[in-house]
Amino acid sequence: MAAPIRLASASSVTLLASYSSIFTKFRPIPHLGFSISVTNAANSGNPLLFCSRRGKRTTHALAKASLGLTYPAEIESHKISFAAKDINLLEWKGDILAVGVTEKDMIKDENLEFQNVVLKNLDSQLNGLLSEVSTEEDFTGKAGQSTILRLSGLGAKRVSLVGLGNGPTGSSTSAYRSLGESVASLAKASQASNVAVALASSQDLTPELKLATASAIATGTLLGSYEDNRFKSESKKLALKSIDFLGLGSGPELEKKLKYSQEICSGVILGKELVNAPANVLTPEVLAEEAVKIASTYSDVFTATILDAEQCKELKMGSFLGVAAASTNPPKFIHLCYKPPTGSIKSKLALVGKGLTFDCGGYNIKTGPGCLIELMKFDMGGSAAVLGAAKALGQIKPPGVEVHFIVAACENMISGTGMRPGDILTASNGKTIEVNNTDAEGRLTLADALVYACNQGVDKIVDLATLTGACIVALGPSIAGVFTPSDNLAKEVVAASEVAGEKLWRLPMEESYWDSMKSGVADMVNTGGRQGGSITAALFLKQFVSEKVEWLHIDMAGPVWNDKKKTATGFGIPTLVEWVVANSSS
Ligand code: BES
Ligand code: MN
Ligand code: ZN
Repeated sequence: MAAPIRLASASSVTLLASYSSIFTKFRPIPHLGFSISVTNAANSGNPLLFCSRRGKRTTHALAKASLGLTYPAEIESHKISFAAKDINLLEWKGDILAVGVTEKDMIKDENLEFQNVVLKNLDSQLNGLLSEVSTEEDFTGKAGQSTILRLSGLGAKRVSLVGLGNGPTGSSTSAYRSLGESVASLAKASQASNVAVALASSQDLTPELKLATASAIATGTLLGSYEDNRFKSESKKLALKSIDFLGLGSGPELEKKLKYSQEICSGVILGKELVNAPANVLTPEVLAEEAVKIASTYSDVFTATILDAEQCKELKMGSFLGVAAASTNPPKFIHLCYKPPTGSIKSKLALVGKGLTFDCGGYNIKTGPGCLIELMKFDMGGSAAVLGAAKALGQIKPPGVEVHFIVAACENMISGTGMRPGDILTASNGKTIEVNNTDAEGRLTLADALVYACNQGVDKIVDLATLTGACIVALGPSIAGVFTPSDNLAKEVVAASEVAGEKLWRLPMEESYWDSMKSGVADMVNTGGRQGGSITAALFLKQFVSEKVEWLHIDMAGPVWNDKKKTATGFGIPTLVEWVVANSSS
């Protein structure tokens, strides 16, 4: 068996040099205190490797030609700096002063004056303009509402009120993240370069909640400001340069928290870029190169192993290779291993992601309206979540935990070499599968990936996959389905998702539905009909997980993509990072 590409810290640089990527290089973001990078689509600075510039796109001789001659443009990394200030709102000078308000904050007395002290002071400074405009525009502080005033002769050029709805109840992460997103779009609309954010009622928050609030607003603003323009021939530069947090505390603890948020955001942005990249640019090989790049950027904590088809064959991954067989783009099996820089390891985890760089369905081709074949570049969303989390964790470096990042990457295509409906595949745990539908390919690739993950000696596995259209029918576009036999792991992952502000809902693993997965000739079929399609898919995956390992499956077919904005969401990355950190000894 040929040696797998293994990148240990000492050899990573030399091995990497033989890699030519047709995907934009990601520059590791230096830890410069408050300097936050919004886009990470920046050239690594190594002129020997791929380079593509706006207008003039050039590639190094090593770079493979991309089908359609499309190469992602190098867009200069954009930095937004954060500062926490304990000054009065009225003293702040800059382009937009944005104040987050709840419906309660907006209550006015009989003289149409605000009862909230912060708003009252601001309003009197503005000669009642704020209360006047909010009444005129019927701005009541509902979530999603915002209003903006252009002023002259004051420190702030514009003052904006942004609605927080009924206020922070339950998990407030998503409310404050939305506030950040609103701030980003207000800034974009008026080309603002510096913005301040305050809350009308921040005095009610505990120091701990102030930290969480500032970090959620920062996340919303960073991700809201980010636009993926790599495939546009022209794009506008972002004007936003700085954000000041007023009244949300200051000091090293807040700085640390904001840095942590930024590290997660850089992972989310990588995840979005991987999903947004079309299948003619992001082939399994390029996805593997991206993984290798993460490992070499954070070579103090990662090693990378990339297996080719031959090596997968030696590991008897017949299920994965069956799916890959039709494509001329060869499959790659990706395995990154994270080990903390120092200290002992208390818990071993695996994150497994579905990595179909394109899914046309195979012989059971996706046809008809609503089959979304044109969006099936997003069928590697699970792997993007896994690699995005790896990038974030490479910066966070949690102690006491070992993490394996595993992706069986390939394309589901049609050709004379491809698997046929009715073929029987043999997975690496020896189980046989009658393929009654070639479009249920994700579970076939995950089968071998899960067997491999169990062989790493891990205690817990979380897998993520854009697995079933049925999950979108069940939970809609923004909630992911969770399936697990382990109540403990369900609790852990749901708790992590609440901290992260992502929506998960547990669905049952109804064993009696396994009946529909029985085959006359093999151990199982790969699909069990339309009813309960997400549940039978999860039951299928369970066949490939050792009983000694705690395992949880996330079906993210809905939330991988934002249909309104026509872009990837980066779903899963914040939750995975929070889960790994919760399992660490930090
Ligand atoms: N990648 C799809 C699932 C999918 C469909 C995700 C639509 C997002 C939007 C998966 O490979 C698939 O095709 N699943 C089939 C399973 C069926 C054949 C049992 C499906 O959901 O239709
Ligand atoms: Mn499919
Ligand atoms: Zn698929």
